[in-house]
Amino acid sequence: MASVEKIRFEKVTKTFPIRGDTKKRGLKEFTAVKDIHFTVKEGEFITLVGPSGCGKSTLLDLLGGLTKPSSGRILIDGKEISGPGLDRGTVFQQYALFPWKTARGNIEFGLEAKGVPKQEWKQLGDYYLDLVGLKNFADRYPHELSGGMKQRVAIARSLAFNPDVLLLDEPFAALDAQTRETLQTELLRIWEKTGKTIIFITHGIDEAVYLGQRVVILTANPGSVKKIVDIPLTNRLEAADIHANPEFVKARHEVWNLLHEQEFVGANI
Ligand SMILES: Nc1ncnc2c1ncn2[C@@H]1O[C@H](COP(=O)(O)OP(=O)(O)O)[C@@H](O)[C@H]1O
Ligand SMILES: [Mg+2]
Repeated sequence: MASVEKIRFEKVTKTFPIRGDTKKRGLKEFTAVKDIHFTVKEGEFITLVGPSGCGKSTLLDLLGGLTKPSSGRILIDGKEISGPGLDRGTVFQQYALFPWKTARGNIEFGLEAKGVPKQEWKQLGDYYLDLVGLKNFADRYPHELSGGMKQRVAIARSLAFNPDVLLLDEPFAALDAQTRETLQTELLRIWEKTGKTIIFITHGIDEAVYLGQRVVILTANPGSVKKIVDIPLTNRLEAADIHANPEFVKARHEVWNLLHEQEFVGANI
């Protein structure tokens, strides 16, 4: 398959105004991410890993068009991002579901937003519920679903927009280890089935290496790209215990080293 560029970060820097020394007046600039520069291919599954506070969510907000870079730019399909759009679907750590809507209702929200005719909702709702393994839970409300199920609904709702790009910000961080593993596998299956470009943010090294075709390692203070590591695993779903695969172990070790050799600068950690 020819590799088409989907996303391009061009020297993206984001600063926030923060209150300076309380004895002095005025605002200071805080640089959250600096000179982020890399590209993502169409259909690629990229994971971004970095310590807490290194600017991961800042990058995802920029990609989502919720905020704008202070300098540099982000391009999708060669066009600069100018705001939110239905070409991108986002899944957050906290299940941002509508509590008054059922699982199906939450998914239909995505269909409605995209302007899909109402007579197609039922069939598409069934399709996405099935895709995330919730065929029998269509009429449950969020409070009647487990954490893992809520995240499945959130993923289905994002996919129902049929976005080109799926953005996930530590979506499994609040789940127990076993549910997390199940959802990781499910997400890989969904990716294989849909061919979406996926940007997945995590602070988990295992998760980053298991899911990503490439892992972008971010440094803290300010967040910048330390290295991008290729993960040469091809049989993630078939292998019985991929975590024991020598390629996995080697890649995990490399990512671990890159994250741990960072110097902790600044006293505000
Ligand atoms: N709106 C904001 N105003 C000021 N500082 C912010 C704002 N949003 C994020 N930050 C700061 O930017 C840094 C990166 O934050 P964030 O992107 O949330 O990190 P991560 O998601 O990697 O944990 C943190 O130091 C955070 O305090
Ligand atoms: Mg975050």
